Amino acid sequence: MISFRLVVCLGISIFLQPVLARKWHDTGSGTIIFEEAWTIPALIDTMVISCASPCIQGISDQATAEDMARNVNDQLAAAIANNTARFGGFAALAMHNATTAAQELKRTVVKLGFLGALINDYQQSGPDNGNIDPFSLKFVTYCYNKATLLFYDQPEYDVFWKMVTELDVPVYLHPRTNIPEIQTPLYGHAPWIKGPSQEFSATLSTHVMGLCTNGVFDRFPKLSVIVGHLGERIPSDFWRIDDQLTRQMSLGMPMLRNLSSYWKTNLLETVSGNFATDLFNFHATQIGQNRILYSVDYPFVSMEQGETWLKGLEKSMKKEKLLALKRGLAVEVLHLDR
Ligand SMILES: *[C@@H]1O[C@H](CO)[C@@H](O)[C@H](O)[C@H]1NC(C)=O
Ligand SMILES: *[C@@H]1O[C@H](CO)[C@@H](O)[C@H](O)[C@H]1NC(C)=O
Ligand SMILES: *[C@@H]1O[C@H](CO)[C@@H](O)[C@H](O)[C@H]1NC(C)=O
Repeated sequence: MISFRLVVCLGISIFLQPVLARKWHDTGSGTIIFEEAWTIPALIDTMVISCASPCIQGISDQATAEDMARNVNDQLAAAIANNTARFGGFAALAMHNATTAAQELKRTVVKLGFLGALINDYQQSGPDNGNIDPFSLKFVTYCYNKATLLFYDQPEYDVFWKMVTELDVPVYLHPRTNIPEIQTPLYGHAPWIKGPSQEFSATLSTHVMGLCTNGVFDRFPKLSVIVGHLGERIPSDFWRIDDQLTRQMSLGMPMLRNLSSYWKTNLLETVSGNFATDLFNFHATQIGQNRILYSVDYPFVSMEQGETWLKGLEKSMKKEKLLALKRGLAVEVLHLDR
């Protein structure tokens, strides 16, 4: 295992960085090259690099997706190998088969030194479900007749979550662009709200609430799942969610507790791309500030925007709380000091 050395220095941030637009260069012969210069701003200690939205989750064909995931992981490991003190990796995983996904996660954590996985919401699957070019977001085929969408709240994924808890690593659930069969009827009337303003949170929060209500965290009490963009809005709405779900409890819902409570034990949120200070403070009252990680959402959001927000907090926040947000929780959750 690659040992991860953390450069410890006060006032330095750690954040999670998804890399859709890290300009992966696909030559068509399987090799993926990072074109971007590996520069890292001076105030940042460590970045966790991953393949975001939809990456492997946009590849319907299982064998193609599994090959691509291994390829992406190997390329990422090679790219960060000479600087593991400052870069960490999150695995990309094909989620068609939970056992295979578990094995690839294990390989990346044990052999490549990765810190966990980043999965872009549901896995599209099925022979008639075309592929999205995972790196350009362009739809390359349009034959979406029998969309099969795989959600990881089903019992067949228990083998995957078991591996995640055995390896003791977090899984970051990141949004994805919907397949056209969903996107067109839901957003065709108002295409402006496709993507981050509405579609992403609406879709991913559904998946996260599926994990809760189907009892995944009851079966895996040690599981840690990270949700960005201030928890895809869920902690803003606890009162109504808990109030309504209480009525489902007697109707066979597997979830054993109030949904809000899993945010104190299993779910963590990041502030990625949602630098709303009032809302951050409100969420801190709902889930505890010790459940909120700093993250920027680069390259979708600029580093400068993240840094400016963080600097603004210096006036209002106690130093140790700010340090916990900037790095303390990340060190703990990612086991950077292990
Ligand atoms: C790691 O390799 C890249 C690409 O060869 C290079 O640009 C970078 O300076 C290297 N970093 C270190 C810390 O050696
Ligand atoms: C998933 O993969 C495993 C290991 O290769 C295999 O034993 C199992 O049959 C597969 N499951 C399905 C549903 O295809
Ligand atoms: C769950 O939420 C309901 C409705 O908000 C509340 O009445 C109840 O006390 C909560 N139960 C627990 C165990 O927290």
